[in-house]
Amino acid sequence: MRIDILTLFPAMFTGPLTESILQRASLLRTDGESVANIHDDKPLQIVLHDLRAFGAGRYRQVDDKPYGGGAGMVLKVDVVVPAMEAIIACGKGKPHCISFSPRGKRLTQPRVERIARKYDRLLLLCGHYEGIDQRVLDGGWVDEEVSIGDYVLTGGELPAMVLIDAVARQIPGVLGKEESSQQESFSRALHRKREYPHYTRPEEFRNLRVPDVLLSGHHADIERWRRSQLY
Ligand code: ADE
Repeated sequence: MRIDILTLFPAMFTGPLTESILQRASLLRTDGESVANIHDDKPLQIVLHDLRAFGAGRYRQVDDKPYGGGAGMVLKVDVVVPAMEAIIACGKGKPHCISFSPRGKRLTQPRVERIARKYDRLLLLCGHYEGIDQRVLDGGWVDEEVSIGDYVLTGGELPAMVLIDAVARQIPGVLGKEESSQQESFSRALHRKREYPHYTRPEEFRNLRVPDVLLSGHHADIERWRRSQLY
């Protein structure tokens, strides 16, 4: 899968995307550079695009005051749409475009799995400030608006990272062998999303003991106990 991200804050993504499991994705910042050297051999290719680079004039203006007055600034339709079009043109196939807003459809595990299954190219549009000019949404450039929960964040970057993490672990080859077989058994043997408590050494820590059944070596009992503990 290829994921293009359009954001005013590309640096926010480097930590989360370069540590841990997402290391197995290739990550590119465009910053005016070509994206031609994208690594096709990785199961997930992520390309970061700085919206500022598409801004107008000497100050690379990307936002403006809202018509009708009010607080905050609105991302300009004549900056966002040409930026999206340039990104769409620089890869194969039309991406499924997702923008982020607390008004969007809730990101749930079934939605994550559907996105991972259906699309091999995503374009994530991260709004900031008071929002994005409504015409970006009404004009058909955005396919889906997603919310990660009923709270208001300062922008779409954190929601985009949440979506990428959740989608990435559905893509074969992104998780290591052990992690993915573990994931498989979670969703098959156990109910989706539900988990039992986990313990590792030492057997006792400040009077807190690992449940005896887990030390018993009796697999059927362990399985039964784990089922009884699902939350
Ligand atoms: N932008 C601001 N808050 C958000 C949220 N809860 N989900 C998605 N995008 C957002």
